[in-house]
Amino acid sequence: MTTRTEDIVNLYQQYVMPTYAPALVLTRGRGTKVWDADGKVYLDFSSGIAVTNLGHGHPRVLAAMREQAEQLVHVSNLHYNRPQALLARKLSILTDGGKSFFCNSGAEANEALIKLARLRGHATGRFEIVCMRNSFHGRTLATMAATGQERIREGFDPVMPGFVYAEFNDLESVRRAVTERTGAILLEAVQGEGGVQVATTEFMRGVRALCDERDLLMFCDEVQCGMGRTGKWFGFQHAGVAPDAFSLAKSLGGGYAIGAVVAQPALANVMEPGKHASTFGGSPLACATALAVIETIAQEKLVERAASAGARFKQALEKHADRFERIRDVRGLGLMIGLEADRPVKELADILTDMGLITVGGKGNVIRFLPPLTVRDNEIDEALEMIDDALTEWHGLKIDEEETGNATS
Ligand SMILES: Cc1ncc(COP(=O)(O)O)c(C=O)c1O
Repeated sequence: MTTRTEDIVNLYQQYVMPTYAPALVLTRGRGTKVWDADGKVYLDFSSGIAVTNLGHGHPRVLAAMREQAEQLVHVSNLHYNRPQALLARKLSILTDGGKSFFCNSGAEANEALIKLARLRGHATGRFEIVCMRNSFHGRTLATMAATGQERIREGFDPVMPGFVYAEFNDLESVRRAVTERTGAILLEAVQGEGGVQVATTEFMRGVRALCDERDLLMFCDEVQCGMGRTGKWFGFQHAGVAPDAFSLAKSLGGGYAIGAVVAQPALANVMEPGKHASTFGGSPLACATALAVIETIAQEKLVERAASAGARFKQALEKHADRFERIRDVRGLGLMIGLEADRPVKELADILTDMGLITVGGKGNVIRFLPPLTVRDNEIDEALEMIDDALTEWHGLKIDEEETGNATS
């Protein structure tokens, strides 16, 4: 059996399309910890990019998956299945009455949002969607066009028409982008890939009011910031607003692929049989898994946990901004935290990985910390120690171990 790191990397180089530049060969996970092929242990503060929000191998989720897999894995949407009905009801309860469409990924969920907007605006020619600069909505042709970052679209011309861009957190810019062709405004309550940029309450409320005033749809992409990560079930709840529809994926299945769009009933009902579909979407296995994820988040009070653990973690990180001159900012909500430096952070991220802390990069010299919502206090303390040591090394300083742990040059 091929188990050595080198063998696996070689197989990738030969047989896997080089769309990624993977770092570690990971073989096993439990809770916040993952192990590589050489047996080295890491704290996973990436959660597979905000996916494994309950950590790795949560017993309750595993049990639900096992039980459902033995009963029925897939039936297609030509037939009803119980877990899909139960999951849709659960999402509706969480969101004051929404109706769901199920798919398999974030991009696919956003595609469904885009199709909803086009269908609703079809008769009046309102097909355009105002998106935010610095946003990220996926890599399919439509979601790439919705994404407000040119580098994502480079080489894939012609870009799908129907998307215009406004400045995030600048209501006047959004207002200027709205025309008689506009059908919807799409935004993230916290831009994740864009470098953990948090929407202001004023901005979110302003967008909601603008949508009401001009009869536009407000869409939120909750693919990364949803499902409790920010310390509320959904990121838009921080501003006390409700969108007309929003997308979910990533952590919805806790590691198993599932995406969803949840729309207010009047909007949801513009869809009719034959207008949209996904063969795998809403399979019994995916939905039973997501149901177990949601029930676990509620039972273990993980939304509250994300808020309190995140506040403690962020406060400790903020002290680094004063102590280390290359750190410009620490920001975020709950357990979605970004540390911004004044230069590229690849080297810092590599030092952290070597020390045993897995993180994710973000646009604009940002390291994202996205630990599972189940992260323990002692794991946060361990991570903070590694971050302190890594920042010290990255700044070319030495740790004064005998004294207070303060860095000296
Ligand atoms: C906010 C947001 N939307 C959409 C996506 C795309 O999701 P997926 O990779 O599952 O297609 C991502 C992925 O990072 C995301 O962060």
